[in-house]
Amino acid sequence: MRKTERLDKLLSNLGYGARRDVRHWIKQGWITVDGHPATSPAQKVCPQQVLLEGKALDHPDGLTLMYHKALGTVCSRKEDGRLIYADFPERWIDRKPPLSSVGRLDKDTSGLLIVTDDGLLNHQLTSPKHHISKTYAVRLAHPLDGSEAARFASGSLLLEDDDRPCLPAELSISSDTEAELILHEGRYHQVRRMFAAIGNHVQLLTRIRIGALSLHDTNLAAGEYITTTPAELMQRITPCEP
Ligand code: URA
Repeated sequence: MRKTERLDKLLSNLGYGARRDVRHWIKQGWITVDGHPATSPAQKVCPQQVLLEGKALDHPDGLTLMYHKALGTVCSRKEDGRLIYADFPERWIDRKPPLSSVGRLDKDTSGLLIVTDDGLLNHQLTSPKHHISKTYAVRLAHPLDGSEAARFASGSLLLEDDDRPCLPAELSISSDTEAELILHEGRYHQVRRMFAAIGNHVQLLTRIRIGALSLHDTNLAAGEYITTTPAELMQRITPCEP
């Protein structure tokens, strides 16, 4: 049997409006439950049976997105700048539980970002126990000299202000000033700080892969998103795990 919940709480947690709005919509006859006009805000309903103005509710079972973060947007309200949430429908801002990004990309970094209201999924994707790698495409200010891959792979590279060296990371060089870097941990501004630690400077940074999920395969342009489910997402990020 599917879980039931109070009609007014359900609609308000999905960001449709305040509980008093729901009372008004019921009076207007705008809400139906299993084909019958809703009778009370306290009515216990199964979300899949509710229609508002004839339309099914928006992702009542939770919301998970694959999103292409654009350059210049910010993941946190504590930073200055246009929030990533401005790229989503306005109603989603008021959802409970709230949407949040899985980790962060800094303002000057674009690329693949997962956004979800599922706390367990968020934990699975960020916990070191799950070993989910992140791949970044980098454009550098100065030409690479050929020593970088070994230094990043050494496990002894120390970043400014850190007391523990970085885990070994894999660098593959694409041209004089372009490379892809696979990280197995996520520290603050890690890619930029790794290149700074060896005397170079990152000019352009894009996250192109999370585990096996590639930004290219999503076909998302900057600022676009697609909805998915936690199960489908985990399957695409870690396809070999049972
Ligand atoms: N490394 C960075 O420097 N910035 C990011 O946003 C992600 C990884």
